[in-house]
Amino acid sequence: MPVRVLLAASEVAGFAKTGGLADVAAALPRALAKRGNMAAVAMPLYNSCRRAGVPIERTGIVLPVPNGDRVLACRVFRATLPSSGVPIFFIEHAPYFERDDGKSRGLYQTINGWGEKEDYWDNGERFVFFSRAILELIPHLGFAPHIIHANDWQTGLVPVYLSEVYRQQPGYQRIRSVFTIHNIAYQGSFPRELMNYTGLPERLYNPAQLEHYGLNLLKAGIVFADAVTTVSPTYAREIQTAEFGCGLEGLLSSYHWKLTGIVNGCDYTHWNPETDQYIIAPYNAETVFEKKPLCKADLQRRFHLPVDANRPVLGVVARLVSQKGIDLIISATPGFIDLGCQLVVLGDGEREFQNQLQHLRDRYPDRIGVYFGFNEPLAHVIEAGADLFLMPSRYEPCGLNQLYSLKYGTPPVVRLTGGLADTVVNATVENLADGRATGFTFGDYSAYALYETVKWALTLYRDRPADFRQIIRTAMAQDWSWDRSAEAYEKLYRQIIGP
Ligand code: ADP
Ligand code: GLC
Repeated sequence: MPVRVLLAASEVAGFAKTGGLADVAAALPRALAKRGNMAAVAMPLYNSCRRAGVPIERTGIVLPVPNGDRVLACRVFRATLPSSGVPIFFIEHAPYFERDDGKSRGLYQTINGWGEKEDYWDNGERFVFFSRAILELIPHLGFAPHIIHANDWQTGLVPVYLSEVYRQQPGYQRIRSVFTIHNIAYQGSFPRELMNYTGLPERLYNPAQLEHYGLNLLKAGIVFADAVTTVSPTYAREIQTAEFGCGLEGLLSSYHWKLTGIVNGCDYTHWNPETDQYIIAPYNAETVFEKKPLCKADLQRRFHLPVDANRPVLGVVARLVSQKGIDLIISATPGFIDLGCQLVVLGDGEREFQNQLQHLRDRYPDRIGVYFGFNEPLAHVIEAGADLFLMPSRYEPCGLNQLYSLKYGTPPVVRLTGGLADTVVNATVENLADGRATGFTFGDYSAYALYETVKWALTLYRDRPADFRQIIRTAMAQDWSWDRSAEAYEKLYRQIIGP
């Protein structure tokens, strides 16, 4: 029997994206549908959705969405997820969602008078509204879902509404909820007053349910969902500890029976060096050693660096936030320069990191290239052109860039945490001998450990090219396709749907 799933997310690649959540929200439903299931997606209608270049139609559906002491009428638009038959529904409420301008005003944040990013003051109301609208959308999907799959704090109230408000209504009794944590550091924590907007009974505001120093939307999702997942098995273990749990470790340990880790897939229709439209010389495992140098030269040109085949290029694509270990990269850069490297960084995020990176660029103009902003084509150019890809994350729930790097034959240098630990096999002498190595890993969160690991990688790159080539071949042969992740989700859905 096919499973019928509605996936709700605050961003979906192709329409609105700030990070990996968007990639997952676009790829998982597609992969589920490809396996014969029925899937639909729901997201807010941002300005960026209208600019996405995919036709979005009106549906004539108007949802009555309770919001504080009023009921708002909210229109629903619809499109099809590109390269699939999966419908995507857009929840319209212009005052909440049509404020992004592709520049300073983003999906969740704007830039304040100091030039720093700051959350919108009404994010709580915005996503409480979105979560409630999801439940109202159910009767209009055209199919009766078995599962509502909510993601991150923005949709944390979906399982709560299902179980506390809609459960008794016809059409909702048999629906089960899955809640996926993509990053536990972002919890959607708001003052208690937000409870008034939710329309939920006050009794739920207690430390065992919605309360955690205020109203905590991520906690709400964890407590009320039938199953909770996160995006790698290692991260599922880590978030039950004080080091990684961001205060929710106790809660997660007590719910460990419904918590699992499923590694994200890599969308190979989009991230495949053989068919990549953005790179100058597409390649596969047979042609990589002939074509990658052309991609490297193109990368060097685009970052205004001397085109030099012999200089190893280290690539970084990341949100410039402390999670990503940007401080380690900055501290280790003089060491990378000594090792003869060039470094290219594509990132958007905190101004302090941008300033420090810009400073390094000014100091080593022929060695360092930086691009601040979001630039999807350039992300592909870096994956294809770099010799090593750096991801020294402090923590990493799953991480997608290392999966892209594997596919592009750009060995990732990663810190052993979360999904990085689950997806990269370190080039130890034994793993090299067994032909299992796919990249380079280190444990300590220190610039020294990062530097030493890059140094080891460069020893292979320069002095043992046969080994380095073997790593590239093994990396490119890995299968992190969405099909395998979708299969794991499907299994979980079936478990909670029951007979
Ligand atoms: P996270 O979701 O924590 O940011 P992931 O590795 O899961 O980390 O996913 C990041 C996604 O966002 C990848 O698809 C990556 O290529 C993309 N990305 C991040 N920063 C940029 C940027 N500045 N320009 C283009 N793409 C970016
Ligand atoms: C989060 C995590 C990242 C993960 C992504 C998609 O943004 O930081 O590690 O890959 O979600 O699940």
